[in-house]
Order: sequence, then structure tokens, then C-alpha cells
Amino acid sequence: MKRVDDFRLQFGKQELVPIVIGGMGVDISTAELALEVARLGGIGHISDALVQSVSDRRFGTKFISQKLKKYKANAASSDKTNVHFNLAELEEATRNHVGQTMEAKRGDGMIFINCMEKLTMNAPRETLRMRLSAALDAGIDGITLSAGLHLGSFALIEDHPRFRDAKLGIIVSSARALGMFLRKNARLNRLPDYVVVEGPLAGGHLGFGLDWAKYDLATIMGEVLTFLKAEHLDIPVIAAGGIFTGSDATAFLEQGAAAVQVATRFTVTQECGLPDKVKQEYFKASEEDIEVNTISPTGYPMRMIKSSPGIGAGIRPNCEAYGYLLDTNGRCSYIDAYNREVELHQGAKKVKVMDKTCLCTHMRNFDIWTCGQTTWRLKDTTRRAPDGSYQVLSAEHVFHDYQFSTDQKIALPD
Ligand SMILES: Cc1cc2nc3c(=O)[nH]c(=O)nc-3n(C[C@H](O)[C@H](O)[C@H](O)COP(=O)(O)O)c2cc1C
Repeated sequence: MKRVDDFRLQFGKQELVPIVIGGMGVDISTAELALEVARLGGIGHISDALVQSVSDRRFGTKFISQKLKKYKANAASSDKTNVHFNLAELEEATRNHVGQTMEAKRGDGMIFINCMEKLTMNAPRETLRMRLSAALDAGIDGITLSAGLHLGSFALIEDHPRFRDAKLGIIVSSARALGMFLRKNARLNRLPDYVVVEGPLAGGHLGFGLDWAKYDLATIMGEVLTFLKAEHLDIPVIAAGGIFTGSDATAFLEQGAAAVQVATRFTVTQECGLPDKVKQEYFKASEEDIEVNTISPTGYPMRMIKSSPGIGAGIRPNCEAYGYLLDTNGRCSYIDAYNREVELHQGAKKVKVMDKTCLCTHMRNFDIWTCGQTTWRLKDTTRRAPDGSYQVLSAEHVFHDYQFSTDQKIALPD
């Protein structure tokens, strides 16, 4: 019987264990987690979501408080058009986060960074170009483009000296989206080095509507593999979303996937950035506690635990400090939803906003508990202490369980 370890992901001459840990912003997939996965011979992701805040936490920089100070006078206004990112600061924060992570890398694996197009940052092209090129400058092994179609993202860095040597990949949820990406980038004569096909059971934002349950990863994988074959394109395809056991992973590798991308099982590891008490919420969650809703201002449906404190919190928009979701016109749908509630409840000390959330603030504070659909199974992956708490796992334990297990078995920790 085959297991994941019988397969290898081939990148040129480099051979990797075909397990990728997906990017989880904001700093849920920490440098520590990515470094551990690279040490074990797989691919780990860090994320550049709210990178200034991550730099402040990791290195004691003061990017967020400085930005807030600069724009404080604007806080009461709903017009955020003048709240801009300083590109030099964005570059410095990215270089801090990526550079220090890459310096610490040991082992044969790789470290990639997850870059979401939906972080439009009030100047989508300029900020994305800076995020991508600063990550390349700082030595990242690869960049995974996510949360968006990224039709123009390769072109933003086509003149970068590492454009053809770093690994560049894209996340899609359909063969159609991949076709669009390839057509749009044909003139660059540079194919992606890998394509992640993310199905409807994944965590974070989904590339599906609220009818996500009608789709399944194996079917979409089949469509993407058929499409690539018909186009005579040899691009490694990585399956993602709902792959919970080594046997699940092996089935995709046998179907023709070059690797699998997993995340949910790593949310309850020591190396994961979620606070310990939130990890316990992930363990405790039942299937009924998990929902896909539309409260993310990005416009994409997002999966999360229903009791996330950020749902309905109704805080004042924090764009002067963060502002990562402001569009080209300085707008975010949370600002509109918040203003509507304030208008409706004049004089109230606090309002509740149910249809949107201030995603920057709540993801920064780990108050939106985004998760994969299989989160309710996490309790079966560990032991329970007499006080009822669940034992947090090591990333090595979970990684090896994916790598070596067969027969749908899940190894419990010692
Ligand atoms: C807590 C959490 C946060 C996530 N955040 C992101 C993100 O910031 N960007 C992204 O592209 N995908 C994100 N994802 C998706 C994962 O990278 C991954 O592709 C997917 O969750 C894999 O499926 P699994 O969780 O069922 O293993 C997130 C997933 C989880 C569980």
C-alpha cells in the first residue's frame, strides 16, 4: 500500500517531500512553522498579510503605531482616500519578515510566501509590486499568489532579477481560472512553477460562492489535469482543501497531484501562531460550529468558527493603523456597514455590525477563527488531559503523520 513518502515533488533537480503547508495569515503560519516544515524536507509558507504588524511583533519595529500617529486625525472620517502605505516601510517590513526567516532556514525543504491580491492597500499595483519584489530581494524560495485572479501580478515583477529563478505559483479553484491566468501571461514566456488547486473545504477565503458544497476537489483536480494535458503543459499541480490524513493525500498523489497543500491540521501545533486558547477552540469545534459566511470585506466567502469574537463586534474601522483592504478609491465595505449601523443607532455607545467585519483588526488579534471544514475532526488527532484540554501537537508529529500513515490512520502523540 502506498503512502505519501513513496512520492517526491520534483522542482528541477530538487526533490522534496510532497507536503506543502499553506499560507495562513495573519501570522498563523509563522516563520517557526515554515522553518520546521523546511527542516523536514517539505515546503512551508509564511504570509505577507499585515506584514508591518508582523514585523512589529517579531522584531519590535513600530510601523503600525507610526502609521496610526500619522493618520490619527482622519480616524473619525469615513473618507480614507488619503490613508496610504509608505512603500519604503512596506519594503522594510517585508525584508525583515522574509530575510530573517530565510537566514534561519535549515534542511532541504523550501519556504514560500503567500501573497493575497485582495490586500488592495489603497494602491493595489504599487503595493503588490513592492511586496513581491521585496520578498524576492530578501531571498524567498517562492511566492504563492492567492485570493485573486492575479492576471497582472507576474508582469509587476518581470524585470526583477529573480523573476525566472524563484518559484512562482498561483492558487486557483477551477481550470477556467487557470486558463485565464495562462492566457493573460503568455507574452511573458514564463509559466508558473506550480499550480495549487484549492477545493471548497479549505480554510480562509474561498474561490467558491455559498454553493461551495456542490463542488469537490477531486473533480476539479481532474479537470485541471485534463486541461494541462490538452495544452501540453507540464506544470506540477498541488491539491489543497480537506486533505486530512496521509491516505487522503496519497489518493491525490495517485490521481496525478505533484504534492498536497494542507493547513487545518497544523492550526493546533505548537509552532502555529494562534494563541493557545484559540487552538483549544479549534479542537473543541463541532461540525455545526463551522460556517461559510460573507462577512469578509474582500467579497469572498470565508470559512470560520461561528463563535469567533470578531463576528458582530462592531468596532470602529481601523484603517489609519491597518487599511489593508482599502480599494483603489480608499473604500472598504466594512466602513459602509459600520457607518450604516451608527446612523441607525444614533447616540448608542456601541453598535453591532453583523454583515461585515473589520477583518484587518480581527485577524491581527486572532479574533476571526478562520478554519478548514475538517476542523471538527481535530479532536481525533490528539489526547485529552484530565482537565478537558486537548494536547497541542508538534508540527513534526503532524508532518510525519501525513508522510508515513496508511489506512486512514491518524497517529496520536506520545
Ligand atoms: C487558519 C487558516 C488561515 C488561512 N489563511 C490563508 C491565507 O491567508 N491565504 C491563503 O491563500 N490561504 C489561506 N488558507 C488556506 C490554506 O493555505 C490551505 O490552502 C487550505 O486551508 C488547505 O486545506 P486544509 O486546511 O483543509 O488542509 C488558510 C487556512 C487556514 C486553516
